[in-house]
Amino acid sequence: MSFTNLFRRKSTSTILKQGGDGDHASGLQKVLTVRDLTFFGIAAIIGGGTFSAIGNACFSGGPGVTLLYIICAIACGFTAMCYAEFASRVPVSGSAYTYAYVSFGELFAWIIGWALIMEYSIGNIYIAFSWSGYFTNLLESFHIHLPEWLTINYQSAHSAFLENKAGEGFNAWQNAPMLGSLKVIFDLPAVVINLLITYLVYKGTKESKNFSNVMVIIKLVIIALVIAVGVFYVDIDNWTPFMPNGFGGVMAGVSAVFFAYIGFDAVSTLAEESKNPQRDLPKGMIYSLVICTAIYIILALVLTGMVKYDLLGVTDPLAEIFALKGVKWMLFIVSIAAVVAMTSVMLVFQMGQPRIWMTMSRDGLMPKKFAEIHPKHKTPGFATIVTGLVVGLPIFFTDENFVLDFTSIGTLFAFVLVCGGVLLLSPQSEEELAERKNNGKFRIPYINSKFIFPAIVVGTIFIVSYVFPTFFTDTFDFSGDKFATNISMVVFFVLCGVMAVMAFLKNLSLIPLLGLISCCYLLTGMAVSNWKWFGVWLIIGLVFYFSFGYKNSKLNFNRIKATIED
Ligand code: ALA
Repeated sequence: MSFTNLFRRKSTSTILKQGGDGDHASGLQKVLTVRDLTFFGIAAIIGGGTFSAIGNACFSGGPGVTLLYIICAIACGFTAMCYAEFASRVPVSGSAYTYAYVSFGELFAWIIGWALIMEYSIGNIYIAFSWSGYFTNLLESFHIHLPEWLTINYQSAHSAFLENKAGEGFNAWQNAPMLGSLKVIFDLPAVVINLLITYLVYKGTKESKNFSNVMVIIKLVIIALVIAVGVFYVDIDNWTPFMPNGFGGVMAGVSAVFFAYIGFDAVSTLAEESKNPQRDLPKGMIYSLVICTAIYIILALVLTGMVKYDLLGVTDPLAEIFALKGVKWMLFIVSIAAVVAMTSVMLVFQMGQPRIWMTMSRDGLMPKKFAEIHPKHKTPGFATIVTGLVVGLPIFFTDENFVLDFTSIGTLFAFVLVCGGVLLLSPQSEEELAERKNNGKFRIPYINSKFIFPAIVVGTIFIVSYVFPTFFTDTFDFSGDKFATNISMVVFFVLCGVMAVMAFLKNLSLIPLLGLISCCYLLTGMAVSNWKWFGVWLIIGLVFYFSFGYKNSKLNFNRIKATIED
């Protein structure tokens, strides 16, 4: 095995030829406009994070969780600009995977592709569970009652039983029918919604697009209504104390809050279906992120203003606040909005995953079948069905908290590599830059970080030690079990130091650098157990790569090069 092969990169022109008009003409329909892409972005962003996960984030962080929404928005904003830069240079479907192939080479491209499964497929498992919770509420309002063993996942029911915690989980465990020696407990609505979404995505982009646009309008109107009605119940006394559990309590919500932002990047998987990807994809990503950030900050303030933060630790917080205030008619409306919002997120993610696999398959990193386009529906049919299975099967044996953390860590990891990738991109010639400008293609503004970044690092250290006098002594305390919890913060500080030196020596571009550092900062909020699972996931991915992808892609790489050079 040659070491250099692991880092072989594809040039942008090779990727463009391969994806668009080369020997692998994609066959996908180019129908999406900037409005569709913005709608897709919103469709992917506002979902389970907003309707479910926000509850536990408010519970641990109190009103101070709004700070976390701002921090995550900053990290995602910088990252969105990096995605936009890549989308403008490499307008094909693979998203971060393709971008890594251009900047870091094959091994990292594979690692990103592998991590993106956590974002798209595993993320959809969380949303399917949350969807099921609100859908069951809706059924209840029509006096339709599903047995508890059909509305909860096995893990949660088992844990509730072991902890002797009265409620749905415990009842499900007690009343479940037996199949041999196994209790039949699974989340039926979550399974059904996954089947329906898989079918819709399999059938085609145009249908999915129209469906998705309608859902986005419904969810925006209803969220505006939630805010408009909720504002009348805000009592500003609920905003003090602002951080009842300190900044640590706020950071405990990082998985949940970050999850709420995931999705803007899904827009980049639609490159081959957009009419003018280099101009429109960046706009779609950035517009959708800005709109959602504004919504989140207002929503978090309204939520924590309406009731005391410690009442929000539930899985349906937007319904709960109105239940607590006795506004019954809003309960029904919120449940409809939640079901619609989460359906649209699932739809976008379920479209994104097969398109990433399709691109990986063209590169020989996945079996050929994943790149097959259905002759009638013009969608990656086989990859779509496999996505349905990857989302559907774990519904039977995982629980929502696990998949939430897993999704956030994998996505943050991919974001770090995308920002790092922009730092590695080779500069373009004057003619190339002029061509981009004349055609309205996005370009990330270059701001020299030489002095600014080191100044930011030093300034932040001073401010933090002034505001939190014990922060650094606590962080560098490795006694007892503190090593495991503090190590990620220590690594983060070392990285900041290294990047400050690099910025000074190499005049790095400031925006991707801030994107990389802010995403790394969010990673420091991940629990030790998340890192362990993430490590296991990466090892499994590497085993796959070395046993299949490495050899297969080598043949493919040489063949594509030869075809294109001909
Ligand atoms: N941001 C998406 C959601 O919250 C993943 O559902």
